[in-house]
Amino acid sequence: MSTTSTNLHTDPTQFPGLDVYVVTGNPIAHSKSPRIHQQFAQQAKQKMYYGLLLAELGAFEAAAKIFFAAGGKGMSVTVPFKLDAQAFADVLTTRAKLAGAVNTLRLEGGKIYGDNTDGAGLVRDLLAQGIPLHKARILLLGAGGAARGVIGPLLEQSPRSLIIANRSSAKADELVKLFAQLASIYEVALEARTLTDLEDSAKTPYPFDVVINATAAGLSDESPLSDLAAANIFTPQSFAYDMVYGKVTAMMQQALHRGARVSDGLGMLVEQAADAFLMWRGADLSHSIDPRAVLAELRRA
Ligand code: ATR
Repeated sequence: MSTTSTNLHTDPTQFPGLDVYVVTGNPIAHSKSPRIHQQFAQQAKQKMYYGLLLAELGAFEAAAKIFFAAGGKGMSVTVPFKLDAQAFADVLTTRAKLAGAVNTLRLEGGKIYGDNTDGAGLVRDLLAQGIPLHKARILLLGAGGAARGVIGPLLEQSPRSLIIANRSSAKADELVKLFAQLASIYEVALEARTLTDLEDSAKTPYPFDVVINATAAGLSDESPLSDLAAANIFTPQSFAYDMVYGKVTAMMQQALHRGARVSDGLGMLVEQAADAFLMWRGADLSHSIDPRAVLAELRRA
């Protein structure tokens, strides 16, 4: 298996005098993260460079070791390496442990710290779009890594209920068990359903205020919801959010048909990056950056 030793796109030694950060994934060429972080750096007048690092499949650890040994300061981690990044970190934040994955690495005092800013990014994007989460009835579609990453931050908003619906029931049941204690602290009714249960009014507490698609179905132009389920779930007061960005997904179209408001996940991408930026460069810069302006610029581009 090849390593990335010969194809570090972003070699920190090539940027003397600058702190260097990268986003690592496979594929990575079309990532919007460099554009996002370079705008934060401009807004906050930070001397830094943020580039791309393509790691070969199975070679995340080798790539990360080379990058940090060469002086890299921090790394954003995307598909398919968030579990590898968790294993690579020396120290994990509580929310990274709960999320079961790491999307941000930071080198400090010779140690690699792993965090997960995805859930916080989702919550901030929803709130910025004027969607109240406190006492809301939330439906989360999917029970894979993307879903798990956002459950903790959603519960912390004290919604009335959070229903996790997945194609196969076992994974949703496991997540409910894993988060049961946090749900009880925030007084949230946390329950599992199958996607098929969503077609049956006897099994599902309709309708929902917020429906979040965290399944991989959005990528392949399918919706995890049957039309029957969609008819029950959405009202014109609902808000449908797909973590996929750059298109109106099949699930968003179902919601639009029922008069609901919709959003893709571009704001989540920008907001999770803002959290990472502040972790690397200092929380005191929170008033110097403007994630919503960066999002607006990305939408125009
Ligand atoms: P990720 O890290 O992106 O969440 P994952 O851990 O492989 O990736 O999880 C993928 C999720 O998308 C799962 O919830 C999966 O459902 P299953 O657990 O039943 O496999 C869901 N998924 C993928 N394709 C889907 C589809 N076409 N319809 C509904 N759910 C789908």
